[in-house]
Amino acid sequence: MAIPTETVYGLAANALDLNAVINVFETKKRPRFNPLILHIKNIDEINKYCKNVPDIVFEIAKKYSPGPITFLLEKKDIIDDIITAGSSLVAIRIPNHKLTLELLNILDFPLVAPSANPFGYISPTSAKHVLDNLNGEIDYILDGGSSEVGIESTIIGFETIDNLDKIIIYRKGSFDIEKLKEFSNLIEFKSISKDDSTDIKDLDSPGRLKAHYSPNTKCILGDINDNYKKAIEQNPKIKIAILSFDKSYELNNNIISNKVLSLNSNLTEAAKNLFSYLRELEDENADLILLERVPDTSIGEAINDRLERAAAKYV
Ligand code: TXA
Ligand code: MG
Repeated sequence: MAIPTETVYGLAANALDLNAVINVFETKKRPRFNPLILHIKNIDEINKYCKNVPDIVFEIAKKYSPGPITFLLEKKDIIDDIITAGSSLVAIRIPNHKLTLELLNILDFPLVAPSANPFGYISPTSAKHVLDNLNGEIDYILDGGSSEVGIESTIIGFETIDNLDKIIIYRKGSFDIEKLKEFSNLIEFKSISKDDSTDIKDLDSPGRLKAHYSPNTKCILGDINDNYKKAIEQNPKIKIAILSFDKSYELNNNIISNKVLSLNSNLTEAAKNLFSYLRELEDENADLILLERVPDTSIGEAINDRLERAAAKYV
């Protein structure tokens, strides 16, 4: 079944039932080397599924969970290697959505839930998006309305060096990493140079594969006016859709659609709209979607990351 979360909808299954877990990989057409996030109901559950959990995890979780933050921790044996794609670490989070928390509270098992989109496609932020992609393949969608945040969780891991906790950001997401500075001075991004790899040994967080979040229409990221001029020079009849940050574009013979992420330049609003607008523009059947970066601060970094991936397939 699909479940709503504050970030994106998830394709959920009983994490303690291997057949159910395998079903998730198959429904999503997701390669087995790409592990799944475990969704739990509260902080107390962390020690049920993870071991040697550093104190800093509880400090962060107490303040910011439920919320869009995923912890990469040492797994206990109860978590099967299939979930973690053979890694000794499991990704774990407490989603901040009323319905899904209610559901987790009545279940006596945790749920694995990757985003409920076919592998490599745009993440779903509404029940309709899930239905559009997985109709006939899943038996149930728990409709919890539009995802409040709209971008996947931030994934963080930990290393202890000389008794100091280092926080490692594996995936930029909707949790503002500035807030982590209160917990550690040592914050590091894992290099993205491995992103093209399809080998799990090279892949610390495969959600960072380059051509993720790709719509089926060709996307170009950059200055919209420049790219617009270039495109019509090459093909005067080209049909263009535009996803802009805060400016609107008048429609003409070439520009058949324009979606503005946030007319008042609000990054939180832009994040919430990003995936649904990308889907709507794809439905316009344009030849090209022009994208532009948003300011690279707080959640803007995660938005830009998704925009780059949407365009990466077509570079
Ligand atoms: O906001 C979210 O995190 C959403 C909602 C549904 O919770 N979930 C989500 O799951 O984005 P997914 O599977 O689409 O992306 C999670 C990524 C995986 O692609 C994988 O790269 C990484 O998390 N991941 C999961 N388990 C991991 C592990 N054990 N080691 C390294 N990376 C892991
Ligand atoms: Mg995903």
